[in-house]
Amino acid sequence: TSTSAAVPAEFAGRTALVTGAASGIGLEVARRLAAAGASVVVADFNEAGARDVARELTESGGRAAAVKVDVTDPESVREAVESAVRTYGALHLAVNNAGIAGASAPTGEYAVEDWRRVIDTNLNGVFYSLRYELPHLIAAGGGAVVNMSSILGANGFAGSPAYSAAKHAVVGLTKTAAVEYASRGVRVNAVAPGFIDTPLLKGDAAQREQLVALHPQGRLGTAEEVAELTLFLLSDRASFVNGSYHLVDGGYAA
Ligand code: NAI
Repeated sequence: TSTSAAVPAEFAGRTALVTGAASGIGLEVARRLAAAGASVVVADFNEAGARDVARELTESGGRAAAVKVDVTDPESVREAVESAVRTYGALHLAVNNAGIAGASAPTGEYAVEDWRRVIDTNLNGVFYSLRYELPHLIAAGGGAVVNMSSILGANGFAGSPAYSAAKHAVVGLTKTAAVEYASRGVRVNAVAPGFIDTPLLKGDAAQREQLVALHPQGRLGTAEEVAELTLFLLSDRASFVNGSYHLVDGGYAA
């Protein structure tokens, strides 16, 4: 029999906050972070879902806690970040991932209420998260952030004016925060998935086929494939990767 020295888990001793972690991409990111040794704060509007995920991670041998957060409410975000720091003593990693698809309508017919809801969640939510995470990341001596943008953070998409505008703005916010905090050891990157098979995607089989056809690989992406890139960007393996927009899109943008 061979004896192998124990390899320390890549994220051991780090605390990670993941918003929107009860479902889809956030859930897969939370699973992988916990498996790699991080203490994971599973933050979601869906409180019961967040608790189920935290229980799953704990039962698989990880460290995890659930917290309810509404990213459209700055006070709620502040409380969630503070609860993460209270629970685990510090914050080193953040994945600002909570988002909604929003209504589908052309710009000239887009309901103002729908516009506000999408901007509030997909843009303002990322700002509030950064706003309250950054001081703690600096206090921890540095860290890494991934903001979940989209292929629609660099491309337009008929019927999704608010979503596309918000995801473009997340890229600007990412670049600015990266420039501002690089000297304090905090890296901030954006992940830009193509269409990913999660509960976010609605629509019938025909609409799904239209989305599939946008990807040269001939399929939608998986949450696991997005989590893979996200974990790389959070890790020290990406120590010189900062302020950029990283596609994981099956060739959509090519
Ligand atoms: P999902 O619907 O599976 O998960 C989103 C999670 O965010 C849910 O658990 C939901 O409860 C939570 N959430 C929604 N509003 C919230 C709020 N106000 N406060 C706190 N939590 C809230 O969606 P998916 O696909 O995992 O999306 C995650 C991120 O990835 C989103 O930002 C989305 O825009 C982005 N994305 C998704 C793509 C896709 O095709 N599925 C493509 C590109 C980007």
